Amino acid sequence: MKLFLDTAEIEEIRTAARWGVLDGVTTNPSLYAKVGGSYDELLVEICRITPGPVSAEVVADDVEGMLKEGRAFARLAPNIVVKVPMCEEGLEAIYRFAEEGIKTNCTLIFSANQGLLAAKAGASLLSPFVGRLDDINQDGMEVIRDLVSIVEMHDLDSEVLAASIRHPRHVTEAALAGSHIATLPFKVLQQMVHHPLTDKGIQTFRDDWQKARAAAAASAKPTGTASARKPAAR
Ligand code: G3P
Repeated sequence: MKLFLDTAEIEEIRTAARWGVLDGVTTNPSLYAKVGGSYDELLVEICRITPGPVSAEVVADDVEGMLKEGRAFARLAPNIVVKVPMCEEGLEAIYRFAEEGIKTNCTLIFSANQGLLAAKAGASLLSPFVGRLDDINQDGMEVIRDLVSIVEMHDLDSEVLAASIRHPRHVTEAALAGSHIATLPFKVLQQMVHHPLTDKGIQTFRDDWQKARAAAAASAKPTGTASARKPAAR
């Protein structure tokens, strides 16, 4: 399963890229609002750092507006994917983008049927929001499982991207459900790295190493004592 970061924070993206675990990035207007500045300049920088696709979201509510915003994003870098919301205008825009060879990520998917429609319209990525469904007492992961089965059963040319991931268990479940991609907040990526027994084990090994080095250094010191001067046994 590919791992994307769900963020507009450059330092978080740089860190994940250095760890060698970054396959792509998703942004949205709310994530952009946290960092501010020029969205275009931010996207160019993110695209430069990120080895894979970078999603940039349109906010227009009409098809022509979505197309105008999306075409402008697509000109910024070759790895831009235009994020389009699931709605009637969104489907039409996705279909038009596909005809122009512009890749899209259909966002705000909350049912397998919405995902099926987005795939048929030509979206490259289908983004069901797992956490927001869990928030309203529905099983978000069920949409991932159903949509993965539909995509594979009918050989659709789209990938399922598990979004609205809130904790590491969501990542494991998305991977087990066969999701092609999961997009994670940086905090969840960090939580995946750590385990209390790993952190404790690292500290124990370091402490024992220091003790062993100190003991070795002490025994190697010429002490001038009788035992140190004793000739070797024949
Ligand atoms: O990128 C969209 C999605 O991941 C949002 O997550 O936590 O705001 O529901 P969240």
